[in-house]
Formats: sequence, structure tokens, C-alpha cells
Amino acid sequence: MFEAVISAPEKGHLADYIPALANQSKNLFAVYIIDEKGEVLTFGDFKGVLTLQSISKVMSFIVAADSLGIDQVLEKVDVEPTGDPFNSIVRLEVAEKGKPFNPMINAGAITVASLLPGDTVEARVKSVTDFISQVTGREHSVNQEVFKSEMETAYRNRAIANYLKANDYLRGTVEEALETYLQLCSIELTTEDLARLGLFIATDGLLLTVTENKNLITRKTARYTKALMMTCGLYNASGKYAATIGIPMKSGVSGGVLCTVQNGQIEHLQGRMGIGVFSPMIDEIGNSVKGMDFLQRISEHYNLSVF
Ligand code: DON
Repeated sequence: MFEAVISAPEKGHLADYIPALANQSKNLFAVYIIDEKGEVLTFGDFKGVLTLQSISKVMSFIVAADSLGIDQVLEKVDVEPTGDPFNSIVRLEVAEKGKPFNPMINAGAITVASLLPGDTVEARVKSVTDFISQVTGREHSVNQEVFKSEMETAYRNRAIANYLKANDYLRGTVEEALETYLQLCSIELTTEDLARLGLFIATDGLLLTVTENKNLITRKTARYTKALMMTCGLYNASGKYAATIGIPMKSGVSGGVLCTVQNGQIEHLQGRMGIGVFSPMIDEIGNSVKGMDFLQRISEHYNLSVF
């Protein structure tokens, strides 16, 4: 299965709208799968570093929902899919009162970034890196080169943030929200870390390293997170992949995909699982070409769909 994906013809492009991501090696492909007993299955350089990009939208939603309470977050952002590209502006003017549709598109994620705990950009970003570190067991930092190159070209995101501010959907200033959001997108991690985060969500917030069964997030936050990943996690291809793959997933333009499997068996792995995939060539929508190819194959072969 891995070989079939690797040898498929090279398609897609690198996320060259972010100058720092335009120079990556095109043919990388890494997979890490972990189950709730800690059994793993890997392929390729799963310790190679990538930036979270839009996958950070899942982590910031979890941190905001768990610190503020989900109802307060839902006052500022809905949980409805849009069917629009991730950086679309159109609905902010036509939708009633300009409320962002969901936290998995840029508009909703910029709002959520502004709601994170802390009074400064640094504190808000740290709330998310601390959360990620709790799950992965290691430190995570922001790739400054990626962050700076995004800030320099963030014309659409700045426009979105201005619309949100005008309609009272941002806490603090436009620049603070934008900086927080783009720093979160630039957090570095590995394919292995993605899988551990996927498993954490699949188990409603359990940590493998902790023996007592204490969920770190509420059941309600976990349920909303998985529903959002399934319905909005792959942007305007979310419906198609819900049908063809059928597991909650979130992609980023760096070519990473984080997946949560509620129940399944993949070779010697069983039960709830997290899957991290990384391959940097993306399609027009922003999803990893080889990543999605692999996930379709593995879902079909091992019958992982929840439907
Ligand atoms: O907002 C942006 O342009 C990016 N930093 C994040 C976008 C992203 O990953 C969307 N992807 N599929």
C-alpha cells in the first residue's frame, strides 16, 4: 500500500504562496499510526519536521473550548460547513451579522485564535504549544521563517480579520489575532506528533503516558472537535472525503494530515488510533495529494469508515 502511493505519478504543487514552504523536497512521504496500547506502524521519515498550518485550527479550538467553555466559543463562531475555500471572505459579508461559519476555515480560526487564554500574542500561542507538548511529550516552537513569510503575504487573512473586527467577532486587535493565528500555523512538529494528537482526540483526551484514565478535555469538546473535523476538516472537499474515507481528519497546506480512528484494526494495531501523514505536494483545495491517496487506500482496505 505504501509502495503503491510512493510510485504513483507526482501530482499537485507545493504551498508556494508561503515563500518558506516553496522550497521543500517534493517527494517526501511519511506515515505514523499509533493505537491506544501504544503499538505503532510507520513508513518513511516520520521524525521529519513540518509546520502545522491549518491543522493548528483543531488544537486552538480544543484549547479555547476547554478554557472558556464551548458555549462561549460558539457565541463567536458557528459549526456549519461552508463548501468554500479555506481563505474565502464572501460569507462574512452576506451571512447574518458576519459570524464565521466554523473554526476550521480561516475566518473562524482567526476568531478562535483571539479567544485563546492570555492577554498577549505570546501567551495565547503558548497556551496551544503547551497543550501540544502535553500530548506529544516534547517541546514545540514556532518556525520564525515560515511565520515571517506568512505575515508578509497575509493580505487575505488581514482582510478577513478586519471584517471580523468590524462585526465584533475578534477579541483584541486585528494584528494580535492575525499574528496569533499565523504563529499557530507555523508551529513545528513531526508526523509522529500528528498521530499522537490524532489518538488523543480519538480517545476523548486520554494520554498514553498517564496510567490513570483521566480525560484532559471534556467529552463535549472532543465530540465537537471530531464532528468539525469530519464536516469541515478538508475544506471544500470535506463531503467527498467523508464519503470516500469516512474518518475525522484535518489537513494543512504544508501537506500534513491528522486523523482519528474511532475503532478499527490495521495489521497488529487495534481499537482507537491516531494517524499522521505527511507529503508536501497539495492539490488546488489545499489537501496533500499522496496523503489523501494513502488514506483512501487504507480506509478501504481496513474498512475504517464510520459510515
Ligand atoms: O492561512 C493560511 O494561509 C495558512 N497559513 C494556513 C492555511 C492552510 O493550511 C489551509 N489548508 N489547507
